[in-house]
Order: sequence, then C-alpha cells, then structure tokens
Amino acid sequence: MNTAKSVLITGATRGLGENLARHFAARGYRLALTGRKQEELDRLGADLAGTAPQIVLATLDVTDYDAIAGVIRRCAEQLDGLDIIVVNAGVAFNAQVGKGHFDLMRQTIDVNLTGAIATSEAAVALFRAQGRGQLVGISSVAAVRGVRGQGAYCATKAAFSRYLESVRLETKRDGIVVTDLAPGYIDTDLNRSIANRPFLVTAQKGTGIMVDLIERKVGFRYVPPWPWTLVAQVMKWLPDRVIAKM
Ligand SMILES: NC(=O)c1ccc[n+]([C@@H]2O[C@H](COP(=O)([O-])OP(=O)(O)OC[C@H]3O[C@@H](n4cnc5c(N)ncnc54)[C@H](OP(=O)(O)O)[C@@H]3O)[C@@H](O)[C@H]2O)c1
Repeated sequence: MNTAKSVLITGATRGLGENLARHFAARGYRLALTGRKQEELDRLGADLAGTAPQIVLATLDVTDYDAIAGVIRRCAEQLDGLDIIVVNAGVAFNAQVGKGHFDLMRQTIDVNLTGAIATSEAAVALFRAQGRGQLVGISSVAAVRGVRGQGAYCATKAAFSRYLESVRLETKRDGIVVTDLAPGYIDTDLNRSIANRPFLVTAQKGTGIMVDLIERKVGFRYVPPWPWTLVAQVMKWLPDRVIAKM
C-alpha cells in the first residue's frame, strides 16, 4: 500500500501545470502528468524522475471529452487511486467581440469550460468510488468582471467557478473536497502578451502558494490571497469606465 499521496494534473506540459508538478514532486507526491504533447510530458517526467516517488504520463487533450474518464481511471489504477485531481488545462486569446473571432471563443469554451467540467465529472465519479478525493479547479480573477478582449475567457472562468460551487454542495457527504483557486497574474505564456500585469508573481512562487492552499483543503481562494482578495472586492464595484481601461 502506497502512503505517499497521488495527484493528477491536466495541462501539465507548461506554465502552472508544470510548476505545480514540480512542487508536488518536491513534497513527495506521486504524479499523474497529463497533457496534449507526449514529448513535453516525457521531458517533464524525466526531469522529475529523481524527485517524485512514482510518475505516470498520459496524453490527454481535454477537448477529447470521451477519453477523459478512461485516462483518469488508468492513472488511478497505476497509482493505487488518486487523492487530488487538478483541473488546470486552459487557453486564453485576445478575441474582441464582433470581429470574427468566434472560433477562438468556441475553443476557449471547449477547453476552459466543457473540458474542465468533463474532467471534473470523471474526477467526482472516481472519488465517489474511492470514498475520498480532492477536486481542484483553476478559475481566475477574470471571473469577477468582464474585461475587453476577454469576454469568452471571463465567461468560462465565472461559469467554472459557479459549477465548482455546485459540486462542493453536492459532494459534501461523499468525502470529497472541492477547491477553487482563482489566480491573479502569474507569469506564464498565457499572459505574457498583456502589457499591464499588476501584482505579477513568478510561476514558481504562485504555484507554491497554490500547493499550500490545496494541502490546507481551502474551498476558495484568490492567488496570491493578498492583495487579490481585496482587489477582487474593489473590482466588483468599479465603474465600467475604469474596468474598460484594464
Ligand atoms: N497564469 C495566470 O496568471 C493565470 C491566471 C488565472 C487563471 N489561470 C488559469 O490557469 C490554468 C493554467 O494556465 P497557465 O497560466 O499555466 O497557461 P499556459 O502557460 O498557457 O499553459 C496552459 C496549459 O494548458 C494546456 N492545454 C491547453 N489546451 C489544452 C487541451 N485542449 N488539453 C489539454 N491541455 C491543454 C497547455 O498545453 P499545450 O502545451 O499542449 O498547449 C499548457 O500545458 C488555465 O486554466 C488558466 O486559465 C492562469
């Protein structure tokens, strides 16, 4: 019987997913790393082989909805169950409204919302069968207000956050913990093209905070909690003309 905890991460090939994997490995977790690119998974797996006690690699595009449950089940079999599943895979595009970007908007919804819900559904089914588990969703400060060029992104993050709230209520009696982490700006490919990234933190620092919060089994937190908990409350009340400048 394995005593080290196990965690599955979607979108582990880059950015927050990769850095979460590095922190979990350093803390002795067994890892199931999933992502679209086998080569990148192999690179990360080889890098962490001396750190994590066990690593399973599995290619998974979260828009291949029918494949998700099978991948999660196979990873769980190889790791004697999964303690944590991090629904991390996501995309963001600058897609201004009414300018022919519906394809990018649909892609955003397919990955960030439909893919995230499909992953969560498979995760909760596994956790119910195990009688335990922690579902971690990565939403965003972008869930608080709509901003220019990010309508579909903001919509997916707000919707996913509400979905996670429902999951938490529905699974309370099943031994399942639901954690919704809402980052502000953490330095990754996702936001490097944005000129103004207030309160930016490195991926190494941001994901270290995220793993601390996951281990504390929090329900919802902004990341980092300070100053975003306060800033998010202020954002709710800011007039459109101020938000429009963001
Ligand atoms: N960075 C931030 O400041 C920030 C703030 C708020 C929320 N978030 C959220 O945090 C999550 C991770 O973002 P990030 O900053 O790490 O972005 P990132 O550096 O762009 O990395 C995104 C990851 O998601 C993967 N991915 C994209 N589409 C996928 C798909 N269809 N199936 C499987 N994996 C897919 C990418 O894989 P490929 O290499 O194959 O593209 C990559 O591994 C996202 O949900 C994002 O919305 C980030």
